[in-house]
Amino acid sequence: MKNWRHNIASKITIVGAGNVGAACAQRIAERGCADIVLVDIVNGLPQGKALDILESAPLLNFDSHLIGTNSYDETANSDVIIITSGLGRKPGMTRDDLLLANMKIVTGVIHNVMSYSPDPIIIMVTNPVDAMTYLALHTSRLARNRVFGLSGVLDSARLSRFIADELEVPVENVSSLVMGEHGKNMVIIPRLTTVSGIPLTKILAPEAIDRLVARTLKGGAEIVGLLKTGSAFYAPSAAAARMAEAVILDKQEVLPCAAYLDGEYGIKGTVIGVPVKLGRNGIEQIIELELTPEEGQALAGSAEAVKELVRAMKLGSEEG
Ligand code: LAC
Repeated sequence: MKNWRHNIASKITIVGAGNVGAACAQRIAERGCADIVLVDIVNGLPQGKALDILESAPLLNFDSHLIGTNSYDETANSDVIIITSGLGRKPGMTRDDLLLANMKIVTGVIHNVMSYSPDPIIIMVTNPVDAMTYLALHTSRLARNRVFGLSGVLDSARLSRFIADELEVPVENVSSLVMGEHGKNMVIIPRLTTVSGIPLTKILAPEAIDRLVARTLKGGAEIVGLLKTGSAFYAPSAAAARMAEAVILDKQEVLPCAAYLDGEYGIKGTVIGVPVKLGRNGIEQIIELELTPEEGQALAGSAEAVKELVRAMKLGSEEG
């Protein structure tokens, strides 16, 4: 590992040098908060992308170092591991269609990363992300605060973008809350989505809210439909980088993430999107909001849908 600089304290491994993984490496590198190891099985792909990003450093003035590799040796003692490897969606596919193929890939990746990093924080990006996060927790045997998935951060960003456009306000005025599964059972709560502190329900007509909620629900599919040959990566990579940064910089930032619940929200034994506080220990706190009966029911239904996927993986009875 020649030329590795030691002026940056944290190390992030990104597994998968496809669009999401590479864009995530770029975003984290440009923010300069960690050194990065980009891993992929395709010979030359992570090496080429890492080198290309690294060569942009003199233009963008960042000090993060990157290496691309096909082996896991260089990932040793990573603080954070972001897993993006697996098949992405093609038009007409749901995230659930990827379950069994990505289960195999993710299981192998978890064994590999765990043999070099004893106690990392794992951020799961591979879809279907709630089930893959469960799988990562099960396979790694890490504590549940150390394994969580990318879901609500991305879905909330999409909703915030749509609201800002609809109301013609800057995006920084909008704070959206999306919970539940990252999929068709997403739980979007307009009354807890605010525009400079004003609940969305007080500032936007119900029909408009319904329209934006429906668009958010299909946000990933909208991009797949446009791209035709792949799925979204600019916003997903920004979301994963934001989560990793909250951990590395110990920001204690409140973000909705796919987390393993053990009784919170009356849900036990599955992974589902809820607001959490992210810091150096991963999930520092699961934030339990008071939900209306309808919202609670929607979240429970969403959790059931994830449980069904988990059952289909036939992992055995013990978990995490
Ligand atoms: C999406 C994929 C990443 O929502 O799930 O675009």
